[in-house]
Amino acid sequence: MKTQVAIIGSGPAGLLLGQLLHTQGIDNIILDRVSPGYILERIRAGVIEQGFVDLMKEAGVAERMLREGEVHHEVDIAVHEEYHTINLTELTGGKSVTVYGQTEITHDLMDARNASGQISFYDAKNVTPHDMKSDKPYVTFEKDGEKHRIDCDYIAGCDGSHGVCRPSIPAGVLKEYERVYPFGWLGLLSDTPPVDYELIYVKSDEGFALCSKRSETRSRYYVQVPLDEKVENWSDDRFWEELKRRIPDDAAARLVTGPSIEKSIAPLRSFVVEPMQYGNMFLLGDAAHIVPPTGAKGLNLAASDVNTLYRILVKTYKEGRKDLTARYSEIALRRVWNGVRFSWWMTNMLHHFYRDSIEDKIRDSEISFFLACEHRRRILAEQYVGLPYEEIV
Ligand code: FAD
Ligand code: DHB
Repeated sequence: MKTQVAIIGSGPAGLLLGQLLHTQGIDNIILDRVSPGYILERIRAGVIEQGFVDLMKEAGVAERMLREGEVHHEVDIAVHEEYHTINLTELTGGKSVTVYGQTEITHDLMDARNASGQISFYDAKNVTPHDMKSDKPYVTFEKDGEKHRIDCDYIAGCDGSHGVCRPSIPAGVLKEYERVYPFGWLGLLSDTPPVDYELIYVKSDEGFALCSKRSETRSRYYVQVPLDEKVENWSDDRFWEELKRRIPDDAAARLVTGPSIEKSIAPLRSFVVEPMQYGNMFLLGDAAHIVPPTGAKGLNLAASDVNTLYRILVKTYKEGRKDLTARYSEIALRRVWNGVRFSWWMTNMLHHFYRDSIEDKIRDSEISFFLACEHRRRILAEQYVGLPYEEIV
């Protein structure tokens, strides 16, 4: 087989890249090692930056997101019972975020993929990139016991944090930066009305909590738990009790509880590799970087990598700009490091690390400092709604 861009991974990064390239007449094949059903069962992100929404529009797949997604002009931060409203739209000159689940985004992108006529292979085994440094890279894989080869111009590694692309780069080429936090987030999804229209990030004496949502009838809540905590130890009742202890009293009083649809623990980690490319193979999204979820940047950073590579490839194919592909990593990393820093900062300010330590007192002081006046709240708001994408020139 032959294609222009072989995309490894059918998560939001791979699917969005494939759809955008398709709208520009650039052929691509998507490979994933699992089934579409498996991918759609993952419960992950929920807060979408304006830049991501605009990319979905450009890809022609935003119709349901615009109809069903909730536009949020504010976000609340509660610190030891006291609410602080961050008015995103006023502070950023008109920007907002959209609440729309990653599952729904993936669904919309898969529907568009099926309608596009572009080829995808699911349940593909032993997917392997080859000759990435040459101008004739290729990918091999097995499907239903048969071996296949795809010759291509470029390989897009959109295969998440446990994928094959990053490890296939020779040792010594990549530099890895990592920070592991001493806690995780226990998340619960339930078909109950959310405790508030707005999202509430909570810093309490018992630790961090987040009240989020997927719709007016579906809630997503998180509580900070120690890294070695096991989800089996958390009955739904125990989760609701702990959440009530952490959120402000008025919110606890109106919280509607119910059976969980999903409950899981995600460890918190900051991780970046440099560079985000090896010859004609590019790394995008979780394949290149992981952020702790505080601030909702993981999926949004994947979208900004897609934006960068997509615009570079369009200029390469349509304007003959052969110089640009070598600059993908340098351009993508500037925005990635901003997102990594913001997520690290939000995580540091809002979580308990070591009870009664001087660091925890300093964290209290830092959040109070940033919430105290408008120009400091603006710094938070501008990053929460997402910094602008860099223009490719
Ligand atoms: P993925 O979604 O991981 O997709 C990668 C795809 O590649 C997968 O379909 C996988 O099957 C495929 N693949 C892997 N290996 C291979 C292989 N060898 N061959 C072929 N295919 C392969 N972000 C937020 O912004 N907010 C959140 O609340 C949030 N919560 C999260 C909770 C959890 C538990 C996790 C794990 C992540 C969360 N994230 C959150 C992060 C966000 O979901 C990710 O940043 C986002 O999924 C990245 O998209 P991606 O397409 O880069 O990778
Ligand atoms: C969600 C997750 C986040 O990390 C966040 O900052 C906001 C919302 C969510 O899953 O809804």
